Amino acid sequence: MVINMAASEAVLRVPSGSLSPSSRLSSSFLTSTPLLSFKPSSTRKRRGIRCTNSLARGKTSHCPNSVFKGKKLQSTRCKCQRNDVEENIRSTLLPSDGLKSDLDEMPLPVNGNLSSNGSAQSVGTNSIEDEAWDLLRQSIVYYCGSPIGTIAANDPNSTSVLNYDQVFIRDFIPSGIAFLLKGEYDIVRNFILYTLQLQSWEKTMDCHSPGQGLMPASFKVKTVPLDGDDSMTEEVLDPDFGEAAIGRVAPVDSGLWWIILLRAYGKCTGDVSVQERVDVQTGIKMILKLCLADGFDMFPTLLVTDGSCMIDRRMGIHGHPLEIQALFYSALVCAREMLTPEDGSADLIRALNNRLVALSFHIREYYWLDMKKINEIYRYQTEEYSYDAVNKFNIYPDQIPSWLVDFMPNRGGYLIGNLQPAHMDFRFFSLGNLWSIVSSLATNDQSHAILDFVEAKWAELVADMPFKICYPAMEGEEWRIITGSDPKNTPWSYHNGGSWPTLLWQLTVASIKMGRPEIAEKAVELAERRIALDKWPEYYDTKRARFIGKQARLYQTWSIAGYLVAKLLLANPSAAKFLTSEEDSDLRNAFSCMISANPRRTRGRKKTQQPFIV
Ligand code: GLC
Repeated sequence: MVINMAASEAVLRVPSGSLSPSSRLSSSFLTSTPLLSFKPSSTRKRRGIRCTNSLARGKTSHCPNSVFKGKKLQSTRCKCQRNDVEENIRSTLLPSDGLKSDLDEMPLPVNGNLSSNGSAQSVGTNSIEDEAWDLLRQSIVYYCGSPIGTIAANDPNSTSVLNYDQVFIRDFIPSGIAFLLKGEYDIVRNFILYTLQLQSWEKTMDCHSPGQGLMPASFKVKTVPLDGDDSMTEEVLDPDFGEAAIGRVAPVDSGLWWIILLRAYGKCTGDVSVQERVDVQTGIKMILKLCLADGFDMFPTLLVTDGSCMIDRRMGIHGHPLEIQALFYSALVCAREMLTPEDGSADLIRALNNRLVALSFHIREYYWLDMKKINEIYRYQTEEYSYDAVNKFNIYPDQIPSWLVDFMPNRGGYLIGNLQPAHMDFRFFSLGNLWSIVSSLATNDQSHAILDFVEAKWAELVADMPFKICYPAMEGEEWRIITGSDPKNTPWSYHNGGSWPTLLWQLTVASIKMGRPEIAEKAVELAERRIALDKWPEYYDTKRARFIGKQARLYQTWSIAGYLVAKLLLANPSAAKFLTSEEDSDLRNAFSCMISANPRRTRGRKKTQQPFIV
C-alpha cells in the first residue's frame, strides 16, 4: 500500500550572506527585531520548515556555522556542499563570540574543591553562574543563522548521543526563561514561532498521524541536499512527535509548555504582538481543541498514556497523572489570558472556563492527601453505588501503602500522583505539585501545605541534591511489573526516585510565589556545592542523591538553565510573576459553589445546588 503524504511545504528562504555570525550575536541577538519574517500560515499542515542555502558547487556557504557532527563540535564554516551533507543528520550550532567552539578543547569546570571528607565545598557562586551562562550559550542551536533553541545535552564524552542533540520543547523552557530574564528575547521569539510551524506536521507512525494541534517532543536542524539540485543544500527543521522516541511516547506536555512560555514571553517583554498574531492564536486554539476534545472519560482531568511528560518512560503514570493536570490547568489559564475575543471562539472559551472549574475542583478535592485525608481513606466504606458516595472512586483502604503511614508528616500534605477508578497513586511527584502551586491549581492553603511538606521531608526529597522527581522509588516486584523491568529506571535512579537539578527552577517559582524564597535559597546553596564540579549532570542516583546518575548525561542544558533561572529569580523575585497565575474571583466563586455541593461534606443532606455552569 502506498500512502501519499504530500502536503504543502513551508520554505523559508534566507538570502545567503545576509547574516554574519558577529552581527547575529552582537546586535540582532540582543534586539527584538526578527531575523526572519514569519508569515501567518493559512494552512497548518507542514512538512517541516526549510531554509535554502543557494550554493554553487564547491563554494562555501555564506552562513558560517559550527557544525555538530555526531558528538563532536567542530569549529568550522558550514561548507554546505553535497559531500558534507551525506550523513544527513546534523544540528548547526554557533558558539558565542569569543568562546571556543570545540567542546573537546573546552575547559572543564574547575569551580569546586573537594574537602578532605570528600564533600564538595561551596565555591564562588559568580564563577558558577558565569560558567553556566557560557555553557548555556554553547548549547544554542541555530537555524539559518537565527538562534532557535538549545540542545538537550552537550556532553563531549558521551558515547551515544541518542536524541540528546535535539531541541526538546520541555527542556527549552528553563533556557527560554533564563534568556527572557536576561533580556535576550530573540531566541525565545524564534523558538515560539518556529515550533508553531512544526505543530501537526504530517508524520506518521505505522500509518497513524498524530492529532492536529500536537506539538513535537523535540526537533533537530538537518542539512539536506535540495531536491533536484545537487549543488544546493537546505536546512530543515525535523520534528519528532514521539514516532522516533524510545517507547514511542506522546509528548502531551509540549503544547502546554509552549502556551506557558508564550505567555511568559508577553509578560516579560511587554510585546503582545506575538501572541496576537493570527497564526499564534490559531496555534493556541488547536492545542486547546486537542485537549478539550470529548472522549470516553468521566473525569475532567486529561487522560494520557504512560510517559507523556517529563517522565517519558513507562513508570505507571498512565491515566490522569498530576504533572499533566497541573500543566493543563496552567495552559488553560494562560490561554484564557491571551485569546483575543472573536466571534468563533465563544464556544471554546466557554468550554475552557467550564473545564477550569471542574478540573480545579477535582484535583483539590480528590488528589489532596494529608494526615486527615489518609485517616478518612483508612475508614472508607467501599462499594457505594449512589450519586452521593463519599468514596466515589471505590478506593479500598488496603491500598494505603505502608511507607505512607510513617512518611506523612503531621503538618503539610501534597497532591497524589494519579487517580483512577479504584486506584490512587500515593507517590509524591515533584513537578506536578510545584506547578500546582505556581498555577494556583492548588488552593492557597494547599500550596503552603505542600511547601510545609517539602520542608518536613527535606532529607528525603532534597538530601544532597535537589530535587527528587518522585518519592518513593518502586522496588522489587513492583518495579518489575510497573516499569517492565526497565534497567534505566532502577530504584532511586532516573525517573524512579532520581534527583533532577532542573527541578530547582520550578521549586524557586513556587516558593517565591508563596512568599517563602528561603526554601529555594537553601536548595540552590546545596546544588552549588556540587553541580558545576560534577559537570551539570542530568540527574543523580541513590536515596540521598549522592551519586551522579548511572546513565546521566553531563552538561545537561536544563540542569544548567534550571540553576540559572533559580538564581535570577532569587535575585529578582518579582520576575516570578511572568510564570505564576493567581486564582481569579470567578473561579473562586465557582469552586465554593461546588465545594458546598460535594456529598463528602453534605452526606445525608439533600442536594440543593445546581451544577455550576460558567
Ligand atoms: C529524558 C527525560 C525527558 C527529557 C529528555 C531530554 O528523556 O526524561 O524529560 O526531555 O531526556 O533531556
